[in-house]
Amino acid sequence: MGFAGKTALITGGARGIGRAIAEELASAGATLAIVDVLQDVAEATAAAFRERGVEAAAFVANVASPADVDRLFGEVMARFGKIDILINNAGITRDNLIMRMKEEEWDAVIAVNLKGTFNCIKAASRPMLKARSGCIVNIASVVGVMGNAGQANYSASKAGVIGLTKTAAKELASRGITVNAVAPGYIETDMTGKLSEEARKAFLTVVPLARPGTPQDVARAVRFLCSEDAAYITGQVLHVDGGMLM
Ligand code: NAI
Repeated sequence: MGFAGKTALITGGARGIGRAIAEELASAGATLAIVDVLQDVAEATAAAFRERGVEAAAFVANVASPADVDRLFGEVMARFGKIDILINNAGITRDNLIMRMKEEEWDAVIAVNLKGTFNCIKAASRPMLKARSGCIVNIASVVGVMGNAGQANYSASKAGVIGLTKTAAKELASRGITVNAVAPGYIETDMTGKLSEEARKAFLTVVPLARPGTPQDVARAVRFLCSEDAAYITGQVLHVDGGMLM
């Protein structure tokens, strides 16, 4: 039970990859703060954990809003007294070709994926600096490194998350806080469920391991980065993509 006594705050934790990360951390003893904009789903997820004896609570917040994030961290600190692990997983897509991309599509994706990650790192840094320890994992994407036609906003946001990860790692390292990113490839979730069968097949042709990833594939890598085994790893991007990028 490597995370016994530790509190993990997971944004976008109600479903998909975030929920799988919550599962992995809870299975090693962590207490969970499940954060999402989907109140009902977040509450059902937290309730399912509690039924299994895991200490878990749902919190509703939009990570893109600094005011929401400040309130959120206040609520989580009031409830659990500390935040040892922050997983910045909340993310959205609004795909379009650059020529057709609307300003709102660009702004929405940058606001949630990039600014949301910044807002949460900023809010978490205060209690973590005080505690002189902490672990932050940001969920990036293979397309933040490779680019992807139709995803200018999303790929830019995820490339930004990688730059932000490295800067935060440098700023926080001297106080015992590690900051890393996990860059998933093609993972089967609600987000990719929107893809056409054709797009799905096209993705799989570039995956050497020849299968889509599961949320658990990503969650295990996150668990590793939060564990004692990864104590000397910071500022890194761990690719969990079946070999798509090498
Ligand atoms: P998902 O759509 O199933 O889950 C995302 C969760 O984030 C949802 O519960 C949603 O309500 C929540 N969320 C969205 N906006 C929010 C906001 N403003 N504040 C708080 N919560 C918010 O997506 P999935 O696939 O589980 O993605 C999780 C992360 O993994 C995202 O950052 C995504 O970009 C990243 N990712 C996913 C890949 C995939 O193939 N599914 C590949 C690479 C990265």
